[in-house]
Amino acid sequence: MHPNEVNKICLEEILLDEVGTAESGPLRFGQREVQLWGIWLTASDAVLAYYRSTLSLDERQRAERFAFENLKRSYTLSRGGLRILLAHYLGCSPHEIELICGPKGKPALRSSSRIRFNASHSGQMALYAFTLGCELGVDVEQLRELDEPESISARFFSAEEAAELLSLKPEDRVLAFFRCWTRKEAYVKAIGEGLAIPLNRFQVTLLPGVPARFVQVTSDFENAGAWTLHHLELAPGYVGALAYRDSRRPMTIHPIMRADELPEVLHAPFSASKGARRF
Ligand SMILES: CC(C)(COP(=O)(O)OP(=O)(O)OC[C@H]1O[C@@H](n2cnc3c(N)ncnc32)[C@H](O)[C@@H]1OP(=O)(O)O)[C@@H](O)C(=O)NCCC(=O)NCCS
Repeated sequence: MHPNEVNKICLEEILLDEVGTAESGPLRFGQREVQLWGIWLTASDAVLAYYRSTLSLDERQRAERFAFENLKRSYTLSRGGLRILLAHYLGCSPHEIELICGPKGKPALRSSSRIRFNASHSGQMALYAFTLGCELGVDVEQLRELDEPESISARFFSAEEAAELLSLKPEDRVLAFFRCWTRKEAYVKAIGEGLAIPLNRFQVTLLPGVPARFVQVTSDFENAGAWTLHHLELAPGYVGALAYRDSRRPMTIHPIMRADELPEVLHAPFSASKGARRF
């Protein structure tokens, strides 16, 4: 099925279920729903120009500071995608979205909206998670060879996680490493602390066939059972995780789409990008 058709179905379902939604944009949440969106971080110059037009002055300056053109483009598309989506939830233009930064860098809306979100990018993918009234953290990693996942895990993982990794056959360790890493990052991003929290102070599952969950959450003395962890496999070659402190919420996962498809799918106005409509 073409991504647009899947999205149409998802959007129709969301529009039908307006329980507890109360944001003013065209996108709606079902009750307690988490919505995941993703885009590929490649685009023509015309599409890039549209995404750039959605950014704040600060963000454009940040983009300019990247030494490499590919990083500049990735950041522009990734942050632009976030703005385009938030604008559709809130019913405004992407460049009108006001973002603030938490003490450790977690972006949030300046307004009193109940929308909570988090974003991640790796390789060619940007991933976004949105929900109402519950902080969440999302992380995606492109699978890649690692010289010594065992030594990284000995340094950063809990003793139990490192032992579980070592219990696997060497050829299964890289995937298990990234399962563990994304789960841990999703948690530290949900609480907004980022890597300021030692990753070895809490424990997640990582073995193949074992459902994603927190085994122990010690950093803020909270009960692991109060948290939910989702394993995400959204495209070949990528693994991810979503974490939040609540019982399991319903989730809608939109297919990862090209950057030019996102505004189309959302019916965004293109007036900001003169002559750049033919994507
Ligand atoms: C957050 C962090 C774990 C991200 O790890 P990563 O795997 O390199 O990057 P990801 O692609 O998964 O996530 C990056 C996104 O997470 C979000 N983010 C940034 N800081 C965050 C935080 N503390 N908590 C949650 N999300 C955060 C942003 O949307 C960021 O996107 P951007 O790069 O376009 O701004 C890591 O960068 C970190 O610990 N940062 C903290 C830095 C810090 O302490 N800054 C303080 C001064 S602002």
